Amino acid sequence: MRENLLKLKESALQELSCAAGKEKILDIKTRYLGRKGELSSVIKEMGKLLPEDRPVIGDIANSIKAEIEQKINSLLNKIHEEEQFARIAAESVDVTLPGRHLPSGHIHPVTLVMDEVKEIFIGMGFDIAEGPEIETDYYNFEALNMPKDHPARDMQDTFYIGNNFLLRTHTSPVQIRVMEKNKPPLRVIAPGTVYRRDSDITHTPMFHQVEGFMVDEEITFGDLKGILTLFLHKIFFEDTRVRFRPSFFPFTEPSAEVDIQCVICGGRGCRVCKMSGWLEILGAGMIHPNVFKAVNYDPEKVSGFAFGLGMERIAMLKFGIDDIRLFFENDVRFLRQF
Ligand code: DAH
Repeated sequence: MRENLLKLKESALQELSCAAGKEKILDIKTRYLGRKGELSSVIKEMGKLLPEDRPVIGDIANSIKAEIEQKINSLLNKIHEEEQFARIAAESVDVTLPGRHLPSGHIHPVTLVMDEVKEIFIGMGFDIAEGPEIETDYYNFEALNMPKDHPARDMQDTFYIGNNFLLRTHTSPVQIRVMEKNKPPLRVIAPGTVYRRDSDITHTPMFHQVEGFMVDEEITFGDLKGILTLFLHKIFFEDTRVRFRPSFFPFTEPSAEVDIQCVICGGRGCRVCKMSGWLEILGAGMIHPNVFKAVNYDPEKVSGFAFGLGMERIAMLKFGIDDIRLFFENDVRFLRQF
């Protein structure tokens, strides 16, 4: 019986030494140490032994059982450890790897230009004001010296909302709103969205303007020319030529249109400047006495200039874009270029 036990131990250890994997080992465990396993069957035979032999054989059986168990446990522990190592290795993070790139959006070219315009005027001490996009007839037209049947209303095809309300056709009404609430001296720009019934390669029904005005006791046309020339040199080039042409706006007198030397051809003449060498870039003038009267300023005491700039036009010239509609189609292939 002792022989049998030793053989059993040998063969169990032998099998364990070449067992690969947890399942194999557990299988060996049941086969040798299980209730119906080989060791149990040998132990069952113990009843046939002489009583004095039983404890000796019992000891041997127990120590064999312990030895096999120990072997099994150490093998299982090793496997468990290896699994843990593998898991940790698989989970580990290489903190030196570059991060995953998140695609980020782009600032819209019109916003870029708007920000640059604001920056330049803020640098000259101007404040920023805003007004509503849904305006009344009074602010958009009447207070700006355009009475009900004034032909100048024709210059701006208007989206009306009922009789009294409309989508503002320009940012000029912000002049009135600011002057009603504040006393001179004023240096203000008013950026914003404006609306007109217009649509072709140079017009969209919605576009962006920056209105600007300066009011104090002795503001002259010279101030207008100085400030606007400085602005145009900053937004385009230091040596861009600027010219002032007499024009008409109901809310200014005298009025001017301001041209810059064509930034596309340098003044030699091209398709963009229609061979004239000049590009019209903004409208301006000395604020009309009737406008001052509308806000209870005394036109004998104060004077001022105002101007209006189209943002899309400046963006088109700065970035060489020939169709204004590109700004509003939101084609990422276009927007990604800025
Ligand atoms: N409001 C005019 C427009 O949208 C632009 C303009 C012209 C604004 C002359 C002014 C100005 O303040 O003085 O066509």
